[in-house]
Amino acid sequence: MNTLKTQSDNYFKKNWETYQKVLANNYMEHREIYGVLHKLLTDYLPTPFSLLELGCGDASSSVQALLNTTVASYTGIDLSAAALEIAQGNMAQINCEQTFIEDDISKVVEELAENRKQSFDIVTTSFVLHHLSLAQKDKVIEQVFHLLKPKGVFVLIDIVCKEGEDREKFVNRYLENMRQNWTALSSQDMSMIENHISTYDLPETQTTLYQIAQKHNFVRFECLYKDTPESAQFLCLYK
Ligand SMILES: C[S@@+](CC[C@H](N)C(=O)[O-])C[C@H]1O[C@@H](n2cnc3c(N)ncnc32)[C@H](O)[C@@H]1O
Repeated sequence: MNTLKTQSDNYFKKNWETYQKVLANNYMEHREIYGVLHKLLTDYLPTPFSLLELGCGDASSSVQALLNTTVASYTGIDLSAAALEIAQGNMAQINCEQTFIEDDISKVVEELAENRKQSFDIVTTSFVLHHLSLAQKDKVIEQVFHLLKPKGVFVLIDIVCKEGEDREKFVNRYLENMRQNWTALSSQDMSMIENHISTYDLPETQTTLYQIAQKHNFVRFECLYKDTPESAQFLCLYK
């Protein structure tokens, strides 16, 4: 197993319980975000549709968005085998063809785009791309364009800096909001999350993400949801 995978599995196991508390308390507004995704899946997409999810984790929120839709196939990619095992259990409630790939999203999207055998009506990613460098994000967005069917949509949900806000200011603002509002978490949970965000998170501005998308031929962009603290956005990049 390579180092990235080992780190991700260890990270997933250690932080699984904490992330469950964050989701249960809706601190990152997954309920609203995945409600918007459900509406997009039912209103915009052709029926039936195919969906590729980058960094699916345990897929618990995606399952909520996929219930009562015409999804024909679901492909979930994640570095963590532990996450994918739970994802398979969660996705059992959805009646569609399912594939789970344990690997790095950068590598998989490149391979899928190169072999041109598969294409998708929608590609989604939620709270994952900020782990990648700017060059890696650029490459993933470029490959996703090639993986989408005509008129397909890339749903990019992630933390986003305000215009003119640098990484340090964003992290301070995010942590400040967490300390004030994420009150159900223990001090151990808080310091684990604070350490993770301060070390690994590399958010971009909406403008940067739209510029990359435009460079790679996406024709239309819209933001369908902004969270209350203005630190995350639901962006749609249309082919
Ligand atoms: C914060 S969780 C988000 C899970 C889910 N998408 C959500 O919104 O709740 C990040 C997930 O991305 C996965 N991940 C991070 N970097 C990755 C990469 N380069 N390739 C594949 N998966 C990655 C982690 O293993 C983890 O399951």
